[in-house]
Amino acid sequence: MNMPAPAEIEKAAALLRDGKLVAFPTETVYGLGADATNADAVLSIYETKGRPRFNPLIVHCADLAMAERFASFSPLARQLADAFWPGPLSIVLPLKSGHGLADVATAGLDTIALRVPDHPVAQALLRAADRPLAAPSANPSGKLSPTTAEQVQRGFSGRVPVLDGGPCKSGVESTIVTIDGDRIIQLRAGALAREEIERVTGLVVSQAETGAKISAPGMLLSHYAPNAHMRLDTSPQPGEAYLAFGAATPFDGITRNLSESGDLHEAARNLFSMLHELDATGVTMIVVAPIPETGLGEAINDRLRRAAAPRS
Ligand code: TXA
Ligand code: MG
Repeated sequence: MNMPAPAEIEKAAALLRDGKLVAFPTETVYGLGADATNADAVLSIYETKGRPRFNPLIVHCADLAMAERFASFSPLARQLADAFWPGPLSIVLPLKSGHGLADVATAGLDTIALRVPDHPVAQALLRAADRPLAAPSANPSGKLSPTTAEQVQRGFSGRVPVLDGGPCKSGVESTIVTIDGDRIIQLRAGALAREEIERVTGLVVSQAETGAKISAPGMLLSHYAPNAHMRLDTSPQPGEAYLAFGAATPFDGITRNLSESGDLHEAARNLFSMLHELDATGVTMIVVAPIPETGLGEAINDRLRRAAAPRS
C-alpha cells in the first residue's frame, strides 16, 4: 500500500468537487471517480471510458450513514452492510426519493448499486471530497480492469489524474448482489465469495439468470477483452502465450502463473496484471489453464470466459 500525501488527497478532492474526474485505488481495482451528484461529471466518466450509456455505475460512500441518504435498506440489506462494509460488496437497492444523485449515474434505473470501499486512500478521498463518488473500473470500456496506477495512466494516455495507492489487494471487482424480499441474488461474482455471504446470513445466495431483468449489464459477453484472442486450454502451441495455474505444464514460450501453489486469492490478485503483461507482448493468442469453480474461482472464470468469448 502506498499513501499519497494529505495535500495530494486534498487536491484530488477539490478536483472532484469541481466536477473533474480522478482515478483512485480501491481494494478491488482502480476506479474512475466523479461526484455522483453532478450529472456533467458523471457523463464525463461515460465519455472518458467510451462506455455504453445503459450501463449503470456503482456509487461509493464513506460509510453506511452516507449510503442511507441514497437508498432504502431492508433489515437484510443492513445485515449485509454491517457484515461486509467496508469491503468488496456492492448492494443494489431501491433509490430513496430526493436522493440528489445524478440520473446518469444509475442509467435511469430506480435502483442504485452502493458500496463502501475498504482502502485507506479511497476512504480518505471520500471523506475529503465529502461527496458520494460514482466510479466504474478505471479502464476504457471493454478493456482490462486496472490494478495499478500505471495501468490507469497507460489506459487513458495520462489524461486522467490518478492517486497512486500501490497495487490493489484483491484484483477482481466487487461482488454485486441485490435483495428481493428475503432472497439474496448475486448479479456479478466478485472479490467476496458467495459462500462467505451464505455463511454470514445463513441464506442461499441465488444466481441471476442471464437475460433476466435485473442482470448487470457488466455481465455482457466480451466485456473484459484483451487485444489478444484467448482460449481456455492446457496445451499452448509455439507462438502463443500461456497463463498457467498451479503446477504448470512445461512450456517454452511466454508464460505467467496465476498461482503456482493453486491459491485462488493470489490468482485473483494476479489475473488482470498478468493478462495485461501477456497482452502487451503482442501475442495473438493467450492460452489460459482451467481454474477451479469454487470461491473466488467463480469470479476469475467469469472474467476469463468473457475475455475468451467471440468478439462482435
Ligand atoms: O470493484 C468494483 O466494483 C469496481 C471498483 C472501482 O469499485 N467498480 C466496478 O464498476 O467494477 P463497474 O462500473 O465496472 O461495474 C458496475 C457494475 C456493472 O456491471 C453495472 O451493470 C452494475 O454494476 N450495476 C450498477 N448499478 C446497477 C443496478 N442498479 N442494477 C443492476 N446492476 C447495476
Ligand atoms: Mg469494468
